[in-house]
Amino acid sequence: MHHIFTILSLGILLGFTSDDKICPENPQGIHYLKDIFADDFLVGTAIDYGEIRDTTNILHELIRNEFSAVVCENSMKADHTEPQEGIFNFRGGDAVVCYAERNGQTVTGHCLVWHSQCPAWMFGPDSCGNPVDRDILIRRMRNHIYGVCAHYRGKVKGWDVVNEAIEGDGSWRNSPYYRILGDEFIPLAFQFAHEADPDAELYYNDYGMDSPRKREAVVRLIRTLKARGLRFDAVGMQSHLSLWTDLSEYEKSIEAFAAEGVKVMATELDVSVLPWPGEMPNADISTNFEYQEKYNPYRDGLPNDILAQQADFYRQLFAIYRRHSADITRVTFWGVHDGTSWLNNFPIHGRTNYPLFFDRSLQRKPFVDDIIRDALSNSYSK
Ligand code: XIL
Repeated sequence: MHHIFTILSLGILLGFTSDDKICPENPQGIHYLKDIFADDFLVGTAIDYGEIRDTTNILHELIRNEFSAVVCENSMKADHTEPQEGIFNFRGGDAVVCYAERNGQTVTGHCLVWHSQCPAWMFGPDSCGNPVDRDILIRRMRNHIYGVCAHYRGKVKGWDVVNEAIEGDGSWRNSPYYRILGDEFIPLAFQFAHEADPDAELYYNDYGMDSPRKREAVVRLIRTLKARGLRFDAVGMQSHLSLWTDLSEYEKSIEAFAAEGVKVMATELDVSVLPWPGEMPNADISTNFEYQEKYNPYRDGLPNDILAQQADFYRQLFAIYRRHSADITRVTFWGVHDGTSWLNNFPIHGRTNYPLFFDRSLQRKPFVDDIIRDALSNSYSK
């Protein structure tokens, strides 16, 4: 046994590639994503009750082996955690936390303040029938953040404190939070989250980060929050991308955020291969188009040329992540495999999309091994 270790250490000293690495817990020498990128960033996935209750062993093995971080796809959103004012429900979130603990994975809290999947009471009249006003909304927001953050203190590494407050043109989104509190709701949310859990990292999370105007607005937001002395750890770039996303603009945003001295995370990565029926693609969950066959072209399988385009896109993307790994702390996919991706139902219900690393049979797509080889071969400098 001793000899094996000596030989292995010698191999490492002599600069053998990690292709030769054999860990006791991974005797087949399979390169799992979380291990390959362990020195670069966490590799995460979104899960929820569906995955936890699943009885397929290979699904659990896949989640445990490939990923070092998880996030709840829905269970920590306000409509789940506080469905009625003052009545909290942590069942889903607790199940995910417990599952992650068993797997040795970190948990991200998603999310505290978001206009979507927010219970109606948040913006409704109070018990005396008075319409919601500034003071009432601040109190509700504070109670919500305090309640949820206190419950997950020590269990959640960080929170998406505010989700999607900025439009693609850089203006503030006209959400009820904004209409009632103006942009002040953002610093307030960060303040409350920090008061409730001083050890938690705090993030601003949004989609469409390849838009230059949005990038500039996020940079302004970081500066404002920092100027006020508020804790701000990282920008979450949701990264709901498609084969047509301009990756050079996306990379510029990573650079711009890092230049502000904060970390960057890809928080909801998927790469859609299906046509977007409207003008500018977005990830606003209220966007909805009627089903038409022409928008669901790959119902019976993904043609090889499209798979090749996706392979090329993902390889370029991971080259970007590796180039910026000093600033990137986590890359999380939005879902485990194509079969359960939200993109089968967004922005059109009932399509067949192929956005992730794992196919419907839970097999790695062939290009994942190419990405792993790229990472092992040091072809991209850090
Ligand atoms: C999505 C979930 O994946 C769906 O299951 C749910 O029906 C709607 O929300 N941006 C976000 C995520 O921040 O919370 C959204 O998740 C996808 C877009």
